Amino acid sequence: MMVNNRKDRILTGMRPTGPLHLGHYVGALENWIRLQQKYDCYFLIADYQALGDHVAEIERIRSAVLDVALDWLAVGLDPKKTTFVIQSYVPEHAELAMLLSMIIPLSRVQHNPTLKAEIAQLNKKDLSLGFFNYPASQVADILLPKANLVPVGADQLPHVELTRDIANKFNRLYGHVFPIPTALVGRIPRLVGIDGQVKMSKSLGNCIYLSDSRETVEEKVRKMYTDPTRKTATDPGHIAGNVVFTYLDAFHPNREELQKLKLQYEQGRIGDVQTKKILADLINSFLDPIRKRRKHYEAHPEEVKAALMEGTSRAKKIASETMAEVKSAMKIHNYEEGLDKITQLQ
Ligand code: TRP
Repeated sequence: MMVNNRKDRILTGMRPTGPLHLGHYVGALENWIRLQQKYDCYFLIADYQALGDHVAEIERIRSAVLDVALDWLAVGLDPKKTTFVIQSYVPEHAELAMLLSMIIPLSRVQHNPTLKAEIAQLNKKDLSLGFFNYPASQVADILLPKANLVPVGADQLPHVELTRDIANKFNRLYGHVFPIPTALVGRIPRLVGIDGQVKMSKSLGNCIYLSDSRETVEEKVRKMYTDPTRKTATDPGHIAGNVVFTYLDAFHPNREELQKLKLQYEQGRIGDVQTKKILADLINSFLDPIRKRRKHYEAHPEEVKAALMEGTSRAKKIASETMAEVKSAMKIHNYEEGLDKITQLQ
């Protein structure tokens, strides 16, 4: 679909808190790689947002900005087709977030289910106003480039819903400025950790990173949880809740073969050692081209820098255009006219 002769625009982002893992790939990046062919994509490295709960770890956030950029390039996001943006380099994000916070009902943020769940995980005294405010800042991230589509994991849907409502409210109050964006949810919204916990997450220490070596992948897969009821390889095995099969579902390229493998496992004809070997090989061959591209960019840091700087400068231009419209709609820069009138009367 095209709007005003331009390709539909996408904005999505990640908080830079460390290197990216397979969960990021299946839940987001895989989708982004596909979308970059068709849409005008803005991929945001949300370093301001990351400060919400990492304010004591500025250095970690700083280096994670570069890790994320490298991971994005390594998986095949193409800076010639897409726009990488460092959030803190475009201060309009903060300005728009502040203005929008005036029209976002506090109760909407208080009742945001994702935010509530995240706050429940935090130590109460560590909850900053900035963290509480992050859904509002995310509304600004999406509206600043006037995005039409927002690819996100299911947990981010309440933020997109909030963005739609606020875009409508802004347009109603001040005149039409923002398109109403739509969420796009990826193939596997969430990948379990290698220990079977609900999600792969750096803080849970249960990740396979996109930057892991072949040996590390083999070792991590060897440690994966399988079927706790199975004592020997000839016992019938269970697929449901078996982490190795959850991953095979995500990474096996051949559905038929996978079906056969499942049957063999259920009939006690194949052991965990073998299924793990199959999985480790699949993950490694999936990661090989990513490793190769990473090597290239590690040897050419100037290309990483160019991707970040060129993208950010494109985003700055759009941000300043949007802010000019927002301010004019909200009659924020008309003070000089009033002053001119007063001067003329004297
Ligand atoms: N909150 C998102 C995350 O934790 C990152 C993010 C920041 C984002 N701004 C965004 C996602 C705007 C979509 C749109 O991954």
